[in-house]
Amino acid sequence: MDKITTEVRAFYEAYPYPPEGQVDCDGYHGSLLLSYLQRSAGKLTRLQLLEAGCGRGVNLQAMAGRQTEVDFTGIDINRIAVQEAAQRSKRLGLVNLQFLLADLLDRQSLPGVSGGYDIILSYGVLHHLSDPLQGLQHLTDLLASDGVIALMLDGSYGRQPLDRYLQALDLIQPMSQSGSDRLPLARALAHAAEEQLFKGNYWQGTSHVDKIEFADRCLHVHQTSYDLTALWQLLDSAGLRFIRWLEPNDWSLHSIIDDQDLLNRLELLDEFNRYQLIERLTYRPKLTLLAAHQGSIPRSPLLTNQIASSQFALNPQLHLNRHEENGLTCTLRRRHIDINHNPCCQNILQKAAQLPLGFTGQKMIDMLIKQDFETQQILQGIQELVENELLYRPHPEHGNAHQ
Ligand SMILES: C[S@@+](CC[C@H](N)C(=O)[O-])C[C@H]1O[C@@H](n2cnc3c(N)ncnc32)[C@H](O)[C@@H]1O
Repeated sequence: MDKITTEVRAFYEAYPYPPEGQVDCDGYHGSLLLSYLQRSAGKLTRLQLLEAGCGRGVNLQAMAGRQTEVDFTGIDINRIAVQEAAQRSKRLGLVNLQFLLADLLDRQSLPGVSGGYDIILSYGVLHHLSDPLQGLQHLTDLLASDGVIALMLDGSYGRQPLDRYLQALDLIQPMSQSGSDRLPLARALAHAAEEQLFKGNYWQGTSHVDKIEFADRCLHVHQTSYDLTALWQLLDSAGLRFIRWLEPNDWSLHSIIDDQDLLNRLELLDEFNRYQLIERLTYRPKLTLLAAHQGSIPRSPLLTNQIASSQFALNPQLHLNRHEENGLTCTLRRRHIDINHNPCCQNILQKAAQLPLGFTGQKMIDMLIKQDFETQQILQGIQELVENELLYRPHPEHGNAHQ
């Protein structure tokens, strides 16, 4: 283990991530992540998911009980976190989940599986490695030929306020002379930064976040960050290609610009330049994306004539609530989506919520026709819900039989 990795391990053993009570599974659903790619045939064996740098493993534990058709493996260098995660899984009786000690930079230590992992996740890890490209290349080696890899790296533009604050902290106490008073010093300086530097951006509130989160932001021993050019270069050098952002809305021009003439002009830019424009105009501190081997192809859009025979399921990231006054409310990845203008869509979602194993378009047509909706309306409703990502199209996989 190299010097930086040893220091990073000591840091995380002192401040194991994520903080207590913080569970965020939005990027952990294997079947949803695979649905964004073309896949030639369903897999006959169980799906294999690896989380590289799983920390305390709480997100995997939350998902393992829900996705019993998937085998989960979490690896980390943090000896305390891995031991605790393994003990907790045993207590919870999670038989499809294992935790192992392994270093992403040490190829020999990484657990392989026959045929490769179908889904690899690595959130908030690569930017702490002494050699991020080597770590990512190891993950590419472990990935199945038609698998997907989801990554979160820190974005250099979005981190600017925090990086300026860290430079200020270093002026008072250089990292090399860091002592036990660094935590209270860093808190006090963060407090001073709230009114100006952190105001109105992602970093607002840094001075009073939980100790583990605070340490991760302000006391880290090794941290790098990426602009989009460097990120695309990193993917390319590791033999990967960009498939999509996990939250495309964050990278849509429509979400930040409402001037139609300007939008028309910007639509002429190529996709990468549009992303760069958003990168310059906003603070996006986390670059969270899906990638795959360079020969992989993103899923083609759904055609109307495919709907009846296609499989659908409710997006597992969706939270549905029924209110007496407001009708059905939908929250997708913390974003509210209003579908109350369309009674057919409301009914499709309510039926979909009762069919956890999914359904074909034809099955939905048969059910809703009895409620006096017309076939055309139902087809359009399914199309709209897929475009807005409230429904998704799972690939038929082993152990994932659909009704
Ligand atoms: C910010 S935490 C992220 C944890 C988890 N992915 C999450 O999003 O909650 C970074 C994790 O990466 C792990 N890590 C750092 N370097 C590593 C390496 N070389 N190999 C494996 N894990 C590593 C750390 O121990 C830590 O648990």
